[in-house]
Amino acid sequence: MRPCLSSWGVTVSNLGRLVVVGAGGHAKVVIATARAAGWDVCAVLDDAPQTHGSEILGARVVGGTEDIGSVEADKAVIAIGDNKSRKRVADRLEASWVSIVHPASVIHESVVIGDGTVVFAGVVIQPDTVIGVHGIVNTGASIDHDCRIGSFAHLAPGTNLAGNVTVGEGALLGIGSRAIPGTSIGSWATVGAGGVVIDRVPGNVVAVGLPARPSMDD
Ligand SMILES: CC(C)(COP(=O)(O)OP(=O)(O)OC[C@H]1O[C@@H](n2cnc3c(N)ncnc32)[C@H](O)[C@@H]1OP(=O)(O)O)[C@@H](O)C(=O)NCCC(=O)NCCS
Repeated sequence: MRPCLSSWGVTVSNLGRLVVVGAGGHAKVVIATARAAGWDVCAVLDDAPQTHGSEILGARVVGGTEDIGSVEADKAVIAIGDNKSRKRVADRLEASWVSIVHPASVIHESVVIGDGTVVFAGVVIQPDTVIGVHGIVNTGASIDHDCRIGSFAHLAPGTNLAGNVTVGEGALLGIGSRAIPGTSIGSWATVGAGGVVIDRVPGNVVAVGLPARPSMDD
């Protein structure tokens, strides 16, 4: 692999050509992260026709998601922030998905990160944590030892998980949320911004506050 200097001034390997699926605000950060990691972002795809021909950080939106087979790329990643939408796209498209890890993150060698998961700048992930596919570990999040993070989950910026926390598939942990050791957040649940999980949050609920509890509507 050819070494190159990323936009963060870090020397990284040139990883090849990457197609990014999704042209919203989240894509901007995914593209910046992919480049910092050494990817050449060769194309962006989005099903909204009004995005076609536009550019995100100089990367051109060349067509819709059905065009993925015709783009000459080595790997692909989905840059859609909404967890259910990201899963729908992953279920529908055939592609060689790849995980992307920002070079300015600190990840222990024992950590397992599934294909399609993106880890942003400033993240710290401690030993023996396992993360599923197509997840988002957003800017400045920290995940301590032995956590289990399901596929399609999103840990928003500044999330802090203590050791042995379980996060179910598709869960959203809002910006600045936290979980104490050994707690669990169910599949497709949402923990509101700043929420603190001190026991079990069931699946498919919205839990807010300290302690984070489901609202009366759930
Ligand atoms: C929890 C959340 C999902 C609720 O969104 P919503 O369903 O649109 O709810 P509303 O804004 O209508 O608020 C409903 C009630 O919950 C309260 N509430 C909303 N978010 C809250 C939060 N994070 N903590 C405590 N209370 C909250 C509101 O004050 C309101 O209270 P009221 O009924 O007494 O007036 C949302 O506020 C949130 O925190 N999202 C996280 C987003 C995020 O971090 N995304 C990551 C981007 S990278």
